[in-house]
Amino acid sequence: MDQRSVSPHVLILPSPLQGNVNSMLKLAELLCLAGIQVTFLNCHYPHHCLLSYSNVQARFSRYPGFRFETISDGLPMEHPRTAEQFLDIVDGVKTTTAPLFMEMMISWCRSTSDTRPPLTCIMADQLMSFATDVANEVGLPIVIFCAISACSFWAYFSFPQLIEAGEVPITGDDMDRLVVSVPGMEGFLRRRDLPSSGRVNDVAYPGLQHLMKIFRQAQRAHALVINTFDDLEGPVLSQIRDHYPRTYAVGPLHAHLKSKLASETSTSQSSNSFREEDKSCILWLDRQPPKSVIYVSFGSLAIITKDELREFWHGLVNSGSRFLWVIRPDALVGKDEERQTPAELLEGTKDRGYVVGWAPQEEVLQHPAVGGFLTHSGWNSTLESIIAGLPMICWPYFADQQINSRFVSHVWKLGMDMKDTCDRVTVEKMVRDLMEEKRAEFMKAADTMATSAKKSVSEGGSSYCNLGSLIEEIRLLSA
Ligand code: UDX
Repeated sequence: MDQRSVSPHVLILPSPLQGNVNSMLKLAELLCLAGIQVTFLNCHYPHHCLLSYSNVQARFSRYPGFRFETISDGLPMEHPRTAEQFLDIVDGVKTTTAPLFMEMMISWCRSTSDTRPPLTCIMADQLMSFATDVANEVGLPIVIFCAISACSFWAYFSFPQLIEAGEVPITGDDMDRLVVSVPGMEGFLRRRDLPSSGRVNDVAYPGLQHLMKIFRQAQRAHALVINTFDDLEGPVLSQIRDHYPRTYAVGPLHAHLKSKLASETSTSQSSNSFREEDKSCILWLDRQPPKSVIYVSFGSLAIITKDELREFWHGLVNSGSRFLWVIRPDALVGKDEERQTPAELLEGTKDRGYVVGWAPQEEVLQHPAVGGFLTHSGWNSTLESIIAGLPMICWPYFADQQINSRFVSHVWKLGMDMKDTCDRVTVEKMVRDLMEEKRAEFMKAADTMATSAKKSVSEGGSSYCNLGSLIEEIRLLSA
């Protein structure tokens, strides 16, 4: 293949998770706007969901260089894809997607009969770590996309040192002890704030070993892209750049895309939901006073027990605040009949609460009636809250969420961390503090951070410039 005559063409490979597909599609659209050809290789399940519940097809039809392709993740469509079965997703990707991807890339890059336009670069979600070997095999450069925060990336990267120092496995006896093996976080990071993958009995646990492999693989990539921005995570980004000199912080991607589309005079909405959004909650919000509602959502994977649900409900009701609560139909632990949200809770929310199965979250967070966010601290939700200038109460469920919530509360001072508990008294107190008593101090920090975030994606801002450098890098790779 004569590379000199080839125009840049990136194959984007997300993992089959809502937050990851969401942010990678936004990056895909930003690359399309820069005139780069993109093939978005989606797993069958997320692709089916996107086509059913979002407007991706219409949105991307305006980019002649964009196309979707699909691949299997080895799981049946009806597989319940919550945190409870997270390892099934990891296994499916490893045993089914990895070999299929190898075959597909070999045929694409080596076969003379393949009619598809030549690829110049692979950009893979960090969780699809096998893509590094495939890229090496077919001689394409690989860029790794990190859908999590830089602080969680750095903590995961430090796991070998944490294990060596005996700080991982994280034992339950002294969860508040400070951790010393994550450089730069010695003074405030507690054991309970480390990514939950360290909460195992044995370092040989396959999930933990797999994660460490993912981070080792990333070191072989040509470049690293992180959905964050320099003003938010500058110190940790500079540590990461010591190991990965080509690290591009280009987030928050949803705001970055919005800002670019606004300057393109397009008005298209960019929802990438896997589920049907219940827009009735916007009509309900329209009837509430400004900044009076706390939005409650635990993302796309977290599950909760009925007892936890009851504690949240009592805490919210007792706080006196209005609330909009997303309870996914698959969010409750248990068998079919146990998964029903107790009717008395739904009845009891009528006065000041509204419950939906899935919300148009970005729109909700920007709504004038919303004044705070009770969140699981997923990285997309955290960034969406930051851009909206909303303070947070964090109830992290798993993975990167444990460390995100510590940074939200302790480093960025954007809210409170309710980690590892959700009794009704704590919920009530934190909601009162966020919405009333300590509101002024949190709002000051939230306003300042929202301004920085918006600046970073505006012309001349750090993420704006970093995206320009990434695009330049992608062009150089095809030259
Ligand atoms: C988890 C993570 O913790 C995340 O950091 C990691 O990258 C992937 O796995 P998830 O539970 O999906 O992710 O949370 P989050 O990253 O916050 O993404 C959820 C997305 O779904 C957000 O973009 C949010 O706007 C959207 N959402 C959520 C809705 O559109 N409607 C809802 O009702 C709830």
